[in-house]
Amino acid sequence: MSGPILIFDSGVGGLSVIAPLRRRLPDAALVYACDNAMMPYGTRPDEWLVKRILSVCSAAVAASGCKVLVVACNTASTLALDVLRDCLAVPVVGTVPAIKPAAESSQSRHIGLLATSATVSRPYTDRLIRDFAADCRVTRVAADALVGQAERLLAGETPDRCIIRDATSPLWAVGDLDTVVLGCTHFPLLSAYIAEAAPRGVRLVDSGEAIARRTAQVIRRPAPRGGCDRSFATALDARLSRALEAFGFDAPQLLPLD
Ligand code: DGL
Repeated sequence: MSGPILIFDSGVGGLSVIAPLRRRLPDAALVYACDNAMMPYGTRPDEWLVKRILSVCSAAVAASGCKVLVVACNTASTLALDVLRDCLAVPVVGTVPAIKPAAESSQSRHIGLLATSATVSRPYTDRLIRDFAADCRVTRVAADALVGQAERLLAGETPDRCIIRDATSPLWAVGDLDTVVLGCTHFPLLSAYIAEAAPRGVRLVDSGEAIARRTAQVIRRPAPRGGCDRSFATALDARLSRALEAFGFDAPQLLPLD
């Protein structure tokens, strides 16, 4: 049996992995699901989040008939991947901060991690840093304010450059940092604005290509694409519909939750 690839995030952040996925799997049907009613995830308590993520992903897997779930959300993946893999009948591809490639390419051995409050402080992130960047200095910056700015951008509005400058400024306080991990899938959508806020050239690294590569390995026979792809949301919102449309998705259907 073939089936579509389901991409899940709290909001529009998961749309940052659509281009790499389509490059690698141009004929595969995709379904997008987001929990926009409860976004942002990055400032919510872990226990609540695990239950919510499981509930939304279970409903989205059932509604989409997908053959693989891509959790295109670092905040969800660094917390709930094990639970999702235990409870769902489909393979789950996660998204975690690209600490490894960043450490591999940093010349100065000083990298930044720009992510949500939840992701920067998770034990999963501690382990990634210990395992892959033990010889690097890692400056962690919680930048929850950027999530709303990425949502603004995809709704067709101009993001607030002051908010972006303030949220990223702790990264530039120390001179030798040369690489920044965009550890929230919303942030690659803002990469031009983040680069503009940087006082010097830095390398911005995200997980999009790695997720697409892993998804292509996991899915054997994706369902073929036929026109626009479907989408689901936990709240109906015209701004979200516009953002999804720009990425080739139909307006979202309301996701039925238990
Ligand atoms: N896009 C999500 C991530 O990758 C989180 C955004 C939010 O806080 O809801 O972490």
